[in-house]
Amino acid sequence: MSKNVFPENFLWGAASASAQIEGAWNEDGRTPSIWDAAPKKKIKHGEDCHTACDHYHRFRDDVALMKELGMKSYRFSISWSRVIPEEGKVSETGLGFYSDLVDELLAAGIEPLVTIFHWDMPLWVYRKGGWLSEAIVPLFQDYTRVLVDALSDRVRWWMTVNEPGCFIMNGYMQGVHAPFKRNYLALSKLTRNCMLAHAAAVKTIRQYAKLKPMVGAAFSSGAYVPKSEETEDIEIARKKSVEIGNGLMSNRWWMDPMILGKPVRAYGIYSSKEKDMPEINQPLDFMGLNIYSSMNYGDWGDVEKAPAGIARNALGWAIDERVMYWNVRFIHECYGLPIMITENGLAAHDTVSLDGKVHDPKRTDFLYRYLGQLKRAIGEGIPVQGYQHWSIMDNFEWAEGYDPRFGLIYVDFATQKRIIKDSAWEYRQIIETNGACL
Ligand code: NOJ
Repeated sequence: MSKNVFPENFLWGAASASAQIEGAWNEDGRTPSIWDAAPKKKIKHGEDCHTACDHYHRFRDDVALMKELGMKSYRFSISWSRVIPEEGKVSETGLGFYSDLVDELLAAGIEPLVTIFHWDMPLWVYRKGGWLSEAIVPLFQDYTRVLVDALSDRVRWWMTVNEPGCFIMNGYMQGVHAPFKRNYLALSKLTRNCMLAHAAAVKTIRQYAKLKPMVGAAFSSGAYVPKSEETEDIEIARKKSVEIGNGLMSNRWWMDPMILGKPVRAYGIYSSKEKDMPEINQPLDFMGLNIYSSMNYGDWGDVEKAPAGIARNALGWAIDERVMYWNVRFIHECYGLPIMITENGLAAHDTVSLDGKVHDPKRTDFLYRYLGQLKRAIGEGIPVQGYQHWSIMDNFEWAEGYDPRFGLIYVDFATQKRIIKDSAWEYRQIIETNGACL
């Protein structure tokens, strides 16, 4: 066992998102989100997220499982339409659900990490223009204020938005996620509205939070893994990771304006504007990174041919754990903020074996591989505050439906029975030793 490097208060946890696990889509006054309204043909096997993991009714049992697994933190998102079912109307029942969830987590010794927007835009907000309209900025600000007033006496960690690159790319460029639009020409406007909403939320949290807040956003991040660890190769990979690419799915498109206050231009015609920078550039306490695959062979990276037979997850994403180290290192060199790994995990077609258990050695191996690389980054002095595995339980993987399973806990969607997978027991050990066993 090598020397341990993880800080004592390291937040070992797991993540989820409201639309992906809660269900109860039309209960207690909740109104539909754009994902509830997704046409059947847009989602694999015609599935939907109306029931998902039924977490809304089972959250106490789910938190008990998290406790059993020794989790120190849990990252979840809030369903905007559960809390504000229509313009100007706050649902006390909806808010009460999250307040009870927070109480349950704290009683279990688990730190709540709240994401304000994880893709499930209320239909009523969408009908007012959604991300295409600047009207979303005050609406997002009011929504944030409601959450801060209700939860900030107990919640310290806030993430404004989750993966803005993905929900704009998938939802408004490629039309493969709700609201299924192809609106290429609106990219600058979409980006601007999203960044202004983020900034308004950051200011609102700072102004009204009762506990001193830790404010950030969760970015979908990526990096190239260098061909070798020779200085020259590292430099090439660094440049490709954080300097050359500046399109919608790049690190820079979002991080330069939001963190450095620097406008970005892409594809010749799209850009963020200098005049918006003072507003958009609100100080953050940390940056959340969602890290899965390297950009070497990824959809948004070089079209480098992946070696035949390379390890892949159930969605076809290449598995190369070195991206964890290089991504964290390159981003930290560029932006300097403390980092929280807000997502990282493996999609698999897990099944229940005859012994009634779920054996998922690939996920266990994945955990050891990626966390080993995170350990390397921390060992070199990069401030990393926590690791939130995606996901706490199998869930609704957006347009992919329920096929890819990312959970540490298996969910039988017909009966809602939960089974702790083998990898989760391993993760518990890692947590218990604070990463010393890695
Ligand atoms: C990114 C998203 O934030 C999350 O909602 C999704 O399920 C995972 N990555 C896996 O694709």
